[in-house]
Amino acid sequence: MNNHQASRLGRMESEAMSVFRGPDHIRRVACLGTGLIGGGFVALFLARGLDVIVWDPAPEAKRRLDELLTTAWPTLERLGARAEDRGSLSWARTALEAVTTADFVQESAPERIELKRNLYAEIELHVPTDVVIATSSSGFTITELQADRSPSPRLVVGHPFNPPYLIPLVEVAGAPYTSGEALAAAEAFYESIGKVVIRMDHEIPGFIANHLQAALEREAMHLVAEGHATPQQIDAAIVQALAPRWTAIGPCMVRHMATVAGIGAYFERFHLGSERFLSHVEPPKFTPELIQAMEEGCRAMSADRDKAALASARDRMVIETLLAQRRAGLSGHGI
Ligand SMILES: NC(=O)c1ccc[n+]([C@@H]2O[C@H](COP(=O)([O-])OP(=O)(O)OC[C@H]3O[C@@H](n4cnc5c(N)ncnc54)[C@H](O)[C@@H]3O)[C@@H](O)[C@H]2O)c1
Repeated sequence: MNNHQASRLGRMESEAMSVFRGPDHIRRVACLGTGLIGGGFVALFLARGLDVIVWDPAPEAKRRLDELLTTAWPTLERLGARAEDRGSLSWARTALEAVTTADFVQESAPERIELKRNLYAEIELHVPTDVVIATSSSGFTITELQADRSPSPRLVVGHPFNPPYLIPLVEVAGAPYTSGEALAAAEAFYESIGKVVIRMDHEIPGFIANHLQAALEREAMHLVAEGHATPQQIDAAIVQALAPRWTAIGPCMVRHMATVAGIGAYFERFHLGSERFLSHVEPPKFTPELIQAMEEGCRAMSADRDKAALASARDRMVIETLLAQRRAGLSGHGI
């Protein structure tokens, strides 16, 4: 038995014991909200052969989703999707109709706590009891989302990155009372459709990736606010130095490999603490001068190029990076 068969067998055994539907029992996914993120998930689920039932109250939602699916498909094909495997898409007239026949629910409604709480109150009793409900929320924890009522153990965070059909990571997290089986079922489901999952033991605001991104953004704004660097220099430092390296290894392994004896020796030599002088804990003040400097820098970098063309060039580069990672045999955690 090879590793893949062994892990599938292990998954089937744990799924057989789980009270929640895992990948082998998920055929139909309900997507609530089909904006940037919900629509991106729809594209991914369809490409993986799943049937998707969607609900979005906006009058222009259908047109927007059609456009998003048209944009996403060439990218998905480049990454291996085939038209003949594509699942079917249907529109529900209500959120309830979408969830009653679903094997998994992905909620990507606007980031407004009352709206999300009302939506859960509306659907929860109608979602089959063995179906996991995942929220795409970037900013709310499960504890916050359910603070107004008796908490459900099957609501989990399934936090993607934009666009979800292209960027591999999904962060899976829950509150202390969230069912471990619900978290495991969500993790196994996302992995079965090719996502790389980080399962967090505790939920914290920003989860992991946005936490790191916020730190970098804060430092970038300090550099601009204090006149040490322009937005162009900051973006060049990332794109031309840090990002190419980070496509293979993250900052922890960068540090480990930069010291002959590994990261332990790094701590001995630098006594941690030197970074104190380099990093700022508080964000800078958003003065008009800072905002103007950021705007001028970013406008100069876009050089009047169409935003859609820039986004498509960015996505083409991300696709090539992901394909190169595959060819290099990188795992979800780098080398
Ligand atoms: N934008 C990002 O980069 C990003 C990344 C990761 C996660 N998220 C999270 O994904 C979620 C959706 O964000 P988005 O950027 O796609 O927003 P969006 O505004 O693009 O899409 C939200 C969609 O929800 C629909 N909607 C409105 N009321 C609704 C309701 N009651 N029920 C169902 N749908 C409803 C809207 O019509 C819209 O189509 C948020 O929780 C956000 O935090 C966003």
